[in-house]
Amino acid sequence: MHSNDKVALVTGAARGIGLTIASRLANDGYRTVLLDRDPGVAQAASALQQSGHEVRSLEIDITDEAALLALPEALGDWWPKVAILVNNAGISPKHEGKKRLVIDMPVDEWRRVLEVNMTGTFMMTKACLPPMVANGWGRIVMITSQAARTRTPVPGAHYQASKSGMTGLARALAGEVASYGITVNCVAPGRVESEMTAAVDPAVNARLAELIPVGRMGKPEEVAGTVAFLVSADASYSTGAVIDVNGGNFMP
Ligand SMILES: NC(=O)c1ccc[n+]([C@@H]2O[C@H](COP(=O)([O-])OP(=O)(O)OC[C@H]3O[C@@H](n4cnc5c(N)ncnc54)[C@H](O)[C@@H]3O)[C@@H](O)[C@H]2O)c1
Repeated sequence: MHSNDKVALVTGAARGIGLTIASRLANDGYRTVLLDRDPGVAQAASALQQSGHEVRSLEIDITDEAALLALPEALGDWWPKVAILVNNAGISPKHEGKKRLVIDMPVDEWRRVLEVNMTGTFMMTKACLPPMVANGWGRIVMITSQAARTRTPVPGAHYQASKSGMTGLARALAGEVASYGITVNCVAPGRVESEMTAAVDPAVNARLAELIPVGRMGKPEEVAGTVAFLVSADASYSTGAVIDVNGGNFMP
């Protein structure tokens, strides 16, 4: 079913936006690896396999450096063809549907969010660079957030800082690897329907949706479509860019 030899890795692909991105890339003909710390990732991959796609799953936590260093063994013959990485895994802790304010935020919670969203993304990206550099072609996409673009009321300061950090990482790396034919871009979704946003009070989600010019929350497919463009050959002159997918909620 695959239309080419490129292998795409998507983190946080057991559910939500990550699973939708992985399904889209598999449909577009890439050999796709669904990676998640949630054991449910195996079932998500097998559903795609049953539709005839060349898909594998890896149960890995992106903060587990040893597991990331073992990716070449884990992927075997697929490893040298790794050409696409979508850094989608992320966390946004809520307490009874609400963020913690900085004044109440335990340092441990701050560290956990930075460790997953920023350091995990850095480690995953670093681990996947060698085959892209060797092949002289690569596409790295960071799923950041509107929270890295402007003030947003829902996520906590740790989340906003981590997504801004991912944007900085993307810009720094874009400059470092452009000469190898590797692009690094960010997709910054606004509010998208998923389990992450379902953790927020439904009244808050409804109120926020009314403020969005398009008049509704986004769908994971709308994020996946933007990722599909950025990983394609068509996007060869876009690097270090941020694409907003937010229904007009933030217009810089
Ligand atoms: N839903 C939104 O409105 C929205 C808006 C902007 C940005 N985002 C970003 O999009 C991404 C996906 O969001 P979602 O709404 O689908 O979230 P989700 O919580 O539904 O899914 C996140 C997935 O990431 C996995 N994950 C978390 N930590 C991990 C780790 N350390 N290692 C491996 N896997 C890990 C989880 O197990 C889960 O399957 C996140 O980075 C999120 O910050 C979401």
